[in-house]
Amino acid sequence: MTIISHSPQETIEIGRHIGRHLIKGLSAFMYGELGAGKTMLIKGVGSVFGIPERDITSATYTIIAEYEGAVPFYHIDLYRLDDIKSIEEAGVFECIGHGKASAVEWAEKLDGVISGAIRVDISYVDNDTRQITIQGIDEKDWDYNQTG
Ligand SMILES: Nc1ncnc2c1ncn2[C@@H]1O[C@H](COP(=O)(O)OP(=O)(O)OP(=O)(O)O)[C@@H](O)[C@H]1O
Ligand SMILES: [Mg+2]
Repeated sequence: MTIISHSPQETIEIGRHIGRHLIKGLSAFMYGELGAGKTMLIKGVGSVFGIPERDITSATYTIIAEYEGAVPFYHIDLYRLDDIKSIEEAGVFECIGHGKASAVEWAEKLDGVISGAIRVDISYVDNDTRQITIQGIDEKDWDYNQTG
């Protein structure tokens, strides 16, 4: 399904709805250009795991941010990793799957390597507007009602 977001806040809200589907131990793979809004989406995802929005950031050298909670959550950013060997050495494979909940930025780096994740594509439309396409969540299980 495809949704238009008109603000960062709306993108966070969409992320929150995605997050509800990760609680059972799934991963969401985020695809989109620099500044598209992948981290904004993950701020919403993290809120489902009790993580304050301000604690989810794009720290330059953080590849894996682990948040302990009732259900542990991993925010993974693959921007700086260019081959599977470095991804493996960073410990990324231990954080995806195995019943763990995670969200991954620059997930194209895992294309053909890991399957079974919810796929989220976010793209720039204009300054405040983004197009978000979600694959792997059934439309009937998607209770997001667009108000804006
Ligand atoms: N509708 C929108 N949804 C999300 N972000 C938006 C929207 N409108 C404007 N923005 C702005 O776009 C930027 C998105 O930044 P964000 O860090 O989430 O992108 P990113 O895809 O994670 O980038 P990077 O590739 O650098 O990690 C923010 O500055 C945000 O304020
Ligand atoms: Mg980011």
